[in-house]
Amino acid sequence: MKRLDGKSALITGAARGIGKAFAQAYLREGASVAIADINLAGAQATAAELGSAAIAVEMDVTRQESVDAAVTETVDRLGRIDILINNAALFTAAPIVEITREDYARVFDINVGGTLFTLQAVARHMIERGGGGKIINMASQAGRRGEALVAVYCATKAAVISLTQSAGLDLIRHGINVNAIAPGVVEGEHWLGVDAFFAKYEGLAPGEKMKQVGAAVPYGRMGRAEDLTGMAVFLASKEADYIVAQTYNVDGGNWMS
Ligand SMILES: NC(=O)c1ccc[n+]([C@@H]2O[C@H](COP(=O)([O-])OP(=O)(O)OC[C@H]3O[C@@H](n4cnc5c(N)ncnc54)[C@H](O)[C@@H]3O)[C@@H](O)[C@H]2O)c1
Repeated sequence: MKRLDGKSALITGAARGIGKAFAQAYLREGASVAIADINLAGAQATAAELGSAAIAVEMDVTRQESVDAAVTETVDRLGRIDILINNAALFTAAPIVEITREDYARVFDINVGGTLFTLQAVARHMIERGGGGKIINMASQAGRRGEALVAVYCATKAAVISLTQSAGLDLIRHGINVNAIAPGVVEGEHWLGVDAFFAKYEGLAPGEKMKQVGAAVPYGRMGRAEDLTGMAVFLASKEADYIVAQTYNVDGGNWMS
């Protein structure tokens, strides 16, 4: 018996990176998975690579009609949603004096609005069908403390931690556990973008920031997407039934709380 046998999961932003690794881990544990992404071609390629228990769903977490359509499509094709991972997000960085309202609104809309309203749509489905569910939000060590140059992204991830607490406390009476994972620094395409921001604002050579942050992790290296999958499987499993409204650091020792 696998830990997620018979379960159906919707994972946002799962065409690549950490979301894709979560999808792979859930499939290994017996779940079926909707790979939901604004990049439909990427989601289709990932679903095809991962096998017949994975489906691709087009979803833009910033548009309510897209969120609702993706939830409906997932329920139609997989039968129900037992697990949601709110994983889609964007990174941004700029000195305080250069932050624009446009960038602030765009990043909050995806990272915070996308998390809240996807969580809401899936929670409505879970409540209607009865039987509870598991919701996992992707926070970050960036949500634990502010950082020069990263004000907006840090604030969005602090908001995700707060939303996890409020939604967790509200939804547990329906048997829905809401928790979050706070990764540290994780290799992948996302971090290539982060590295480019620091190269621009700190005058570093490309790749230099990645080297610095990797060397500073107490574990001794940057994280890999696979380092996070154990926590994602655990929080989606029955073993996590009594865990409510928590955010877990999975970051090689970078942050303690
Ligand atoms: N990589 C890290 O170092 C790190 C550290 C801490 C937290 N995180 C968090 O982990 C999560 C995954 O990060 P990642 O590194 O895999 O990112 P990534 O950039 O590699 O992947 C993000 C995915 O989200 C999709 N996406 C973007 N906008 C979308 C939208 N509006 N609707 C639906 N999908 C959309 C993209 O197409 C992409 O497939 C994010 O929430 C991120 O903030 C990452």
